[in-house]
Amino acid sequence: MTIRWIDDDDFVVEKRRVFCRVDFNCPLDDDGNVSDDTRVVRALPTIKLLLKKGARLILASHLGRPNGKVKPSLSLAPVAEVLQKHLWEANIQDEITFTDDCVGDGVRLLAKDLKPGGVLLLENTRFHSGEKKNDEGFSKQLAESCDVFVNDAFGAAHRAHASTAGIAAHVTDKAGGLLLRQEVDALSRLLRDPARPYVAILGGAKVSDKLAVLDNLMKRVDTIIVGGAMAYTFLKAKGEAVGHSRVEEDRIAIAKSILANAEQRGVVLMLPTDHVAAKGFSADAPSRVVGPNGFDGDEMGLDIGPATRDAYATAIRAAKTIFWNGPMGVFEWDKFSAGTMGVMQAVAGADGYSVVGGGDSVAAVNKGGMADSISHVSTGGGASLEFLEGKTLPGLAALEG
Ligand code: 3PG
Repeated sequence: MTIRWIDDDDFVVEKRRVFCRVDFNCPLDDDGNVSDDTRVVRALPTIKLLLKKGARLILASHLGRPNGKVKPSLSLAPVAEVLQKHLWEANIQDEITFTDDCVGDGVRLLAKDLKPGGVLLLENTRFHSGEKKNDEGFSKQLAESCDVFVNDAFGAAHRAHASTAGIAAHVTDKAGGLLLRQEVDALSRLLRDPARPYVAILGGAKVSDKLAVLDNLMKRVDTIIVGGAMAYTFLKAKGEAVGHSRVEEDRIAIAKSILANAEQRGVVLMLPTDHVAAKGFSADAPSRVVGPNGFDGDEMGLDIGPATRDAYATAIRAAKTIFWNGPMGVFEWDKFSAGTMGVMQAVAGADGYSVVGGGDSVAAVNKGGMADSISHVSTGGGASLEFLEGKTLPGLAALEG
């Protein structure tokens, strides 16, 4: 892969209008404020370097899934405030300009008048249907306001959208940002000769979301640890009674073949041996710990049990390479968070090279204040999974030249 990077000496942006695609898809709280600004913070090194190099900087991102329509609750306005605060803290004193659209005459004029060191933040690219369709006309419109394209949006690099991929065909000069490179380097370490034992931890609701990555990881890892609701599809495939736990009935056959594949390859596939079983899906549902086949018919597993937690932690601590994506239970509810937090502590405490990806696992790491103890916390959920599946990410492919 030949990608130019923004810190290459011959990547000159002085006085040029640089369209930099970032992933500012930050979670918002009930009042519409940014509740976790990690993605803004992680984009700052690229923003600062481009400004230092004298760029006239135009930042673009999506937020949420507005389906091609203007949805005021998904405006990037709250993100603009957070970005402004961070730039002031970094002694970048100019006020950023937040535009009410990402294309059109107004944006073109503002971009034309932008001074070196100035910043425009464009409104949500997904307010236009052309964004997700990777529409050529819309890509051209985005390109009209700039001379150079930079992609630093690793979290959206698996999307072939106009602002992540299409625009690159209409701009002669393009490069990858520092976060994009950091993510590619960190995740590539998991694909290229990882230190062993290599343990992958997969959780979350659905086996169907993880099939491709399971298939690919199976060829590389020594152990796969499974938690979350997806474990119940595997347990049912093994013939265990799982009460009222969430099972994807239409995936039982494939779960059986994954178990057989693991056995054939000598990959240890660890499943929960005990569970926190709840009478109903609610934060305060009555609960108890049950062993194999221990569920009552009206009980569902909402977390892994203490014995499973210990067994998982032991395997994780012994690993030299760790990849974690997906929670072990409904960790947003305190009663059912011990499994996820236990895994988080084991990953953070392990000496091995550790990578955590995916919104929920990253949220657990942040909740536990352990981000500094993880080798790499990925800003990409779907993007990191697709990278590990071995797929070519459109946002990366568009930068190749
Ligand atoms: C993410 O949050 O994983 C990225 O910003 C991509 O968002 P999307 O899944 O809505 O495309």
